[in-house]
This record gives sequence, C-alpha cells and structure tokens, in this order.
Amino acid sequence: MKVMTILGSYRRKGNTARILEMTEEGLAAQGAQVDRLNLSAADLLIVATPVYVNDVNDLVKTWIDRLAFVCHRPEFADRSAYLLATEGGIKPDER
Ligand SMILES: Cc1cc2nc3c(=O)[nH]c(=O)nc-3n(C[C@H](O)[C@H](O)[C@H](O)COP(=O)(O)O)c2cc1C
Repeated sequence: MKVMTILGSYRRKGNTARILEMTEEGLAAQGAQVDRLNLSAADLLIVATPVYVNDVNDLVKTWIDRLAFVCHRPEFADRSAYLLATEGGIKPDER
C-alpha cells in the first residue's frame, strides 16, 4: 500500500510531527510505502494537525480549502484519508 502523509504543524519537531513520525514508522514496518509528496499516487492519505480552538489549524484548513477542486474529481473517489490530531488536553488530576 502507498501512503501519503502531510505534516500540518508549523513546529517541525512538535507533538504533531512526533506522532506522525511514529505513525509513518509503524506503517513502514508493516510494509507500506510511505511518502510525503505524491497525492495522486497514494492509496491512503494521512494529514496530521495540531488542534487549534477545537479545529484543524490554519495551515491545514487552507490546504483543505485549496484541495476543494481535486476532492470532487472521480480519480480520488476510492481513496481513504485519516486525520491525525494532537491536542493539549488536561489530565484528570490537573482539573
Ligand atoms: C493557538 C492554539 C490553539 C490551541 N487550541 C487548542 C484546543 O482548542 N484544544 C486543545 O486541546 N489544544 C489546543 N491547543 C494545543 C495544541 O493542540 C497542542 O499543544 C498540540 O499538540 C500542538 O502541536 P504541535 O507541537 O505540532 O504544535 C492549541 C494550541 C495553540 C497554539
């Protein structure tokens, strides 16, 4: 399987980058070909974003908006996508 991943965080060594790298390593260990570049060749797309105000961040929102045209193309109808999100949740003992 060919997997395309997109890091949607400004912080290249932040929480989102770390969880995405772990996901990429896990997929590669299972035999997937993981790539960050070629959308049209991918069977599966993984977009990783930090949560900003209960939503994807501005960078990922802009990217999604710019994809509006290709998202309606038949060639992408059978593709799967996952959204990987990191957040700054509060632990139960910190409330
Ligand atoms: C502007 C801003 C808004 C945020 N809003 C939320 C939020 O609504 N809920 C939440 O759980 N975490 C929120 N966070 C925390 C981030 O989602 C969290 O720290 C994330 O893991 C950061 O990822 P990064 O290291 O890739 O930047 C926010 C952080 C920032 C900077």
